[in-house]
Amino acid sequence: MFTYEMPTKLFFGKNCIAQSGDYLAQLGKKALLVTGHHSAKINGSQQAILDTLQQLGISWAIFDEVENNPSILTVRRAAAFAKAEQVDFVIAVGGGSPMDAGKVIALLCTNEIDDVQLFSGPYKKPLPIVAVPTTSGTGSEVTKAAILTNPHAGTKQSVTDPLLFPSMAFVDPTFTMGVSPVVTIDTAIDALSHAVEGYMSNNSTPVSDVWAEEAMHFIGPHLTELGSDVSYAAREDLMYASTLAGIVIAQSGTTLIHGMGYQLTYYKGFTHGRANGMLFPSYMYLMTETMPDKVERVWDILNLDGLDEFTNIMNKLMPDTIQLTEEDIDCYTKLTMPTRAVQATAYNVTADVIASIYRQLR
Ligand SMILES: [Fe+2]
Repeated sequence: MFTYEMPTKLFFGKNCIAQSGDYLAQLGKKALLVTGHHSAKINGSQQAILDTLQQLGISWAIFDEVENNPSILTVRRAAAFAKAEQVDFVIAVGGGSPMDAGKVIALLCTNEIDDVQLFSGPYKKPLPIVAVPTTSGTGSEVTKAAILTNPHAGTKQSVTDPLLFPSMAFVDPTFTMGVSPVVTIDTAIDALSHAVEGYMSNNSTPVSDVWAEEAMHFIGPHLTELGSDVSYAAREDLMYASTLAGIVIAQSGTTLIHGMGYQLTYYKGFTHGRANGMLFPSYMYLMTETMPDKVERVWDILNLDGLDEFTNIMNKLMPDTIQLTEEDIDCYTKLTMPTRAVQATAYNVTADVIASIYRQLR
């Protein structure tokens, strides 16, 4: 048997906030806007939301201090602000970091929980969450997970619960038009890893596979052009794909790439998408052993000859090098082994397998 859950009301397309923003009136009289420091002010998303809130007579408070890979400290500070401002709902605007932070802030507004229970639950219903992505990668606008850095665990960890599905998502590709080539690459590869990992996961379902293949269809044609000028039409494809890939991981979760990648972000500062991309070819090599049919299907859909061509493309997109000591590798392997991501990987993942993949990065 399998289940399928996607309760988020999704609005997709150019100017979707101006066209359909009046749905926000259902959620209350005052909103907390959660963003990073700059990009929401530059890409037009913040203004589009504030214009709509003003028209609807909804007041707002702004928390614009979400950092990359948000910390527990930041979301607690924002939740205290939200409570003092007596907001009715949260609008999270940006890439994965502000959207994930917004979800946890909404949760902390209704739950008095310590840092341990924050990652384990159970939870009371959070404030309603509205997500507005401004990059095409995370898919957080349609997932039930939020990733935080957890210094107690020494890595990134997810807060996961169906209560964290946003009530609404407004997905407008125009907000991604100014995204830099590097971020366009990193986020597109994150989205591709969601589609492919979800497709290969032990927890994949017939329905999630449909969306995974569709997401790959929309990313494939743009793989080699990510580092140059990306047209609106291509940006629309990438955003559609990242949203579909988000729906995939909402069903299946992620696997070894994400499980191992979190360590490269937490300890070595690589962005999430870049960390995933560096591990991607090795993962596909493993999958060739256990899921050859699905791997062939991935190459077909992406219009690639096979793993060698994929590896070449990834090396061009992400020519990063990394210095890992045996001590690093041992530490990262120990952090990765007990994770859900390992359980979900369709391979007999041992500590040796993980260590050898980290070793290949050097
Ligand atoms: Fe991801």
